[in-house]
Amino acid sequence: MTIDPALLSLYPTTTTVSPDGLLTVGGVSLTSLADTFGTPVQVVDEVALRTRAREFADGLARRRSNSNVAFASKSFPCTAVYRVMAEEGLHIDVAGAGELVTAVKAGVRPDRIVLHGNAKTDAELALAVDTGVGTIVVDNWDDITRLESLPGARQSVLLRVIPGVDAPTMAAIATGHHGSKFGLPLGEARRAIAHMQASSRFEVSGIHLHIGSQILSVDAFAEAVDAVAGLGRFDVYDVGGGLGVRYQRNDKAPSIDEYLNAVTAAASAHLPDDAELWIEPGRSLVAQAAVTLYRVTTVKPGDPTFVAVDGGIADNLEASTYVGTRMDATLADRPGGDDRVELVGRQCESGDLFASDLPLADPRIGDVVAMPMTGAYSYTLLSNYNGALRPPIVFVRDGVATLVVRRETYDELNARDVV
Ligand SMILES: Cc1ncc(COP(=O)(O)O)c(C=O)c1O
Repeated sequence: MTIDPALLSLYPTTTTVSPDGLLTVGGVSLTSLADTFGTPVQVVDEVALRTRAREFADGLARRRSNSNVAFASKSFPCTAVYRVMAEEGLHIDVAGAGELVTAVKAGVRPDRIVLHGNAKTDAELALAVDTGVGTIVVDNWDDITRLESLPGARQSVLLRVIPGVDAPTMAAIATGHHGSKFGLPLGEARRAIAHMQASSRFEVSGIHLHIGSQILSVDAFAEAVDAVAGLGRFDVYDVGGGLGVRYQRNDKAPSIDEYLNAVTAAASAHLPDDAELWIEPGRSLVAQAAVTLYRVTTVKPGDPTFVAVDGGIADNLEASTYVGTRMDATLADRPGGDDRVELVGRQCESGDLFASDLPLADPRIGDVVAMPMTGAYSYTLLSNYNGALRPPIVFVRDGVATLVVRRETYDELNARDVV
């Protein structure tokens, strides 16, 4: 039984398909993982995760020796993932106290943490300073006032600026345009830099920008570097994340090499030669490392035929009307097929649609559906919509499956209710 090579290329790098059509990831068959851990379950290919981290780190270092990759942990804020990224030598960016606490718990060195947030509280900044976070990204004047009022040694900061670049992506995840809620416009940024440079509280290491997520053209990244170059000479320029990925077999996305070529060329053209170039990939680092397994619960023949599974936007909000990403999938023991179906979830919204006109091989109740490209923002955006239990995460490597997050229980569903 064959699998469309374009579909196969969406799965983690260690994925194989046996002659009789059985998919394996990390040397473990996907149907056996569904049997052992139940469904829905998120399966992470550890080798794929590590390989991708190295591609970014080595690729950037090769092009610009003065460089640094931070994992944008908002894309997969799970202890085991933090640990892998830290082991691979990446710095970690966190947005808020929750991600900061998780990163530290996972063993990330505080001096390798970059703290973000457009609405940091007194408590979050105090925690960051107490923890010894290496870099705080100042977003606004209130961050400046709060940091000035906190005791402590000089704090290394980057200032987040709005480059005024319209990234070609969905409005909900664009962040670098004029009027964005993140950072300060260029003119105000100059004043904020001058203010911080005059204060003994701040070590102004440089500039930060991030123009958005799921960006499928590299030109906007280069444009943003150009836009901030006139702010002065700094030690560090952190140009954020944002590289987009393919979700369906016919999608196209720039490769890591194309992305790195674009940002390093822009840095060479516009930034001081000795400045450090930092990037913060999230989605493009983790998306392809995970496959989510579901079981078919309902097959409703008709025009169209609906195949419903035991998960949905509760475990993958990207596939909702909010982001509108459409996914791809196949059956874990019968890839291919030519039954055209609407693959839908179980949450009570018509926008809970994973894929339209998806070819499957005679799907039946109980079949395991293997959905690739679910590593980014699925765990981040988990909810208990319709009382869904948050699914487990299983790492697979060299034929061994390890549970790293267990499934939520019904008791936990209302454990915080006090009345
Ligand atoms: C400041 C910052 N850096 C990095 C990222 C990672 O972006 P992506 O997952 O698109 O690479 C984000 C997410 O939008 C972000 O807000």
